[in-house]
Amino acid sequence: MSPIIRRLAVMTSGGDAPGMNPCIRAVVRTAIARNLEVWGVEDGYEGLINGNFIRLGARDVSGILQKGGTILRSARSEQMMQPSGQIEAVRQLNSQGIDAAVIIGGDGSLRGAKVLAERGMAVMGIPASIDNDIYGTDMCIGVDTALNTIVEAIDKIRDTASSHSRAFLVETMGRNSGYLALMAGINSGAEMVLIPEVPTTVDEIINTVKLDYQKGKQHCIIVVAEGFEPDTNELARIINEKDVGFRAWVTILGHLQRGGTPSAFDRWLATRFGVRAVEFLLDGQRGMMTALNGNRVVTVPLQEVVSQRKETPTRFYEIAEILAR
Ligand code: F6P
Repeated sequence: MSPIIRRLAVMTSGGDAPGMNPCIRAVVRTAIARNLEVWGVEDGYEGLINGNFIRLGARDVSGILQKGGTILRSARSEQMMQPSGQIEAVRQLNSQGIDAAVIIGGDGSLRGAKVLAERGMAVMGIPASIDNDIYGTDMCIGVDTALNTIVEAIDKIRDTASSHSRAFLVETMGRNSGYLALMAGINSGAEMVLIPEVPTTVDEIINTVKLDYQKGKQHCIIVVAEGFEPDTNELARIINEKDVGFRAWVTILGHLQRGGTPSAFDRWLATRFGVRAVEFLLDGQRGMMTALNGNRVVTVPLQEVVSQRKETPTRFYEIAEILAR
C-alpha cells in the first residue's frame, strides 16, 4: 500500500511551453476535487530549492486556460544537477509536508523528477516541451501550438518570397531534434527541410536550390532546424556566394515559437495529462510520466524516459521531399 497523499505540490520547470497553464489548472482542480491540499512551487527547481511555495485554491487558477507561459514561472536550474541541490529540494518538500509532486516540463525537468523519485518522493512527470523530444510519448504539451505558429510565419514569409523570387532560410527551434522543422516543412509546403537527424551536404542543398530555380519555381523555402550544421547564416552566405538563381534571406523565428495562447489540442492534451497525473498518483503509481500513446494517456517509468532517445520519424522526411518537387 502506498502512503496516503494529503498535500500535493505542482511545478513547471525548464523552457516554458504553451499549455503549461491549462495543465496546472487541471492538476489543481482535480486534486481539490479529491480533497487534497495543493501547493504551487514557483520558479521551477530553483524555487523549490529556495522554498518558494504558494498555496493554490481553485480560484487561483481561474482565467489561465488561454494564457501562454506559466503562472508558476520557470527556470533552468544548475543547482538541481548537483547532489547538494537535490538533497535540499527533498528537504524543502518534506519540511512543507508535501506527500507528492507533479512536475511539468521537458527533458531536464524530467531528469530532476527522476532524481526526486530515487530520493523517495512520490513524483509524477508531465512532458511539456515544444521540441517533442521526450521518449515514451507521442506528443508533448506545447508542440501543436508552436507548430501552428511556425506554419503561420512561413505562410507569410512565402508571400514575400514569391513576390520577389527569393529563397528564405527559416530557422526553427528544437535543440537537437528536427521534429518541429520537419512537421512545419511538410505542413507549409517548404522546398527543403534540413534537420540534424538527416545529414545533407552543402552541395546537395545548393543543387536543390539551383534546380528549383531552373524549374521556374517562384520561391524556395528552406526550413532549418536549429541543430543543423552548417548553421542557417552560414548556409545563406554559401548560397549567395554560389549565385544559384535565388538569393537567400534568413529568418530566425526564435522565442516567438514558445509563447502565445495554447491551441485547443494543447489545452486538451494538457488537461488530460493534468487530470490523469493526479489520478495515477492516487492510484499508487510513483516515479512515472504521463504519456500519449495513440489516443490513450498511459504512464511510462521516468527511468525509461530519461535513458532513451526519442527518434524523429525520418520516414516523414521522404514525404517532405516527394511533395516538394
Ligand atoms: O527546449 C525548448 C527550447 O526552446 C529549445 O527549442 C531551445 O533550443 C531552447 O529551449 C532555448 O532555451 P532558452 O530559452 O533557455 O534559451
